[in-house]
Amino acid sequence: MDNKITIPYITAQKGKAKITMVTAYDYITARLAETAGIDIILVGDSMANVVYGHATTLQLELCDMIKHTRIVSDHIKGPLLVADMTFGSFHINTDKTVENAVSLMKYGRAEAVKLEGGTRSKLLAIEKLTEHSIPVMGHIGLTPQSVHSFGGYSVRGKSLNEAKSIYNQAKDIEKAGAFSIVLEGIPSELSRLITENISIPTIGIGAGIDCDGQVLVIHDLLGLTDKPVPRFVKKYDNLWERGLKALESYISDVRNSRFPEKEHCYFIKNLDINQIKEK
Ligand code: KIV
Repeated sequence: MDNKITIPYITAQKGKAKITMVTAYDYITARLAETAGIDIILVGDSMANVVYGHATTLQLELCDMIKHTRIVSDHIKGPLLVADMTFGSFHINTDKTVENAVSLMKYGRAEAVKLEGGTRSKLLAIEKLTEHSIPVMGHIGLTPQSVHSFGGYSVRGKSLNEAKSIYNQAKDIEKAGAFSIVLEGIPSELSRLITENISIPTIGIGAGIDCDGQVLVIHDLLGLTDKPVPRFVKKYDNLWERGLKALESYISDVRNSRFPEKEHCYFIKNLDINQIKEK
């Protein structure tokens, strides 16, 4: 397939060209991302927040992730498609993890899965999945599925102990067979150290400029949200405000009989309208 982004292509970009990644969850976000020329589309479990309006990502069901991944996969050709393993879908045992990842690939048509964490059971899961030719993207640092153990969404890896632990997790995830790692919400110096000392690409979100690529949640970067966004987000537009203005104008136009205008209406030609009432 021409211009198809593959995993070997992504891994070969390390040290050559920056990798671009964005989330998408449905037809329109998928089409936007592909048309703009993005390398990787992530059907992220941030869908829980920006699509379903949940406070955390924990409530999202695997079946929802499969459904949305399938919708995205139906409408893109070029970008690499990665689906998030939802909270609980890789926590029971490695067999269940493989079964769930297979469902994301078989029914959702994901080309890789992403899973959060770098401790022992997660490393076993990554090893098992890669052994079954299921490509895995790791995700460490401020992992949103750990919000309750972290006690919030603050930056991780600021103390020596925590920085060491995140660094070691990155090395372990590389060894376990992942093809890339998302580094979220960690100091720039730590992400640079990791990026320079592992052979697989790092994709940063709130992790500074030195990662091999960057990812953002599409609603955040478009400003399609009524909530404040984290400091690491650059809003490239303000679609919430623009959408609000458009809707307010629509409401006002309808209330004041300014919409529809002639160009939005259909008219009967060559017919006397009065004939319609005739019996
Ligand atoms: O779910 C998500 O959107 C993510 C990215 C922000 C990395 O995990």
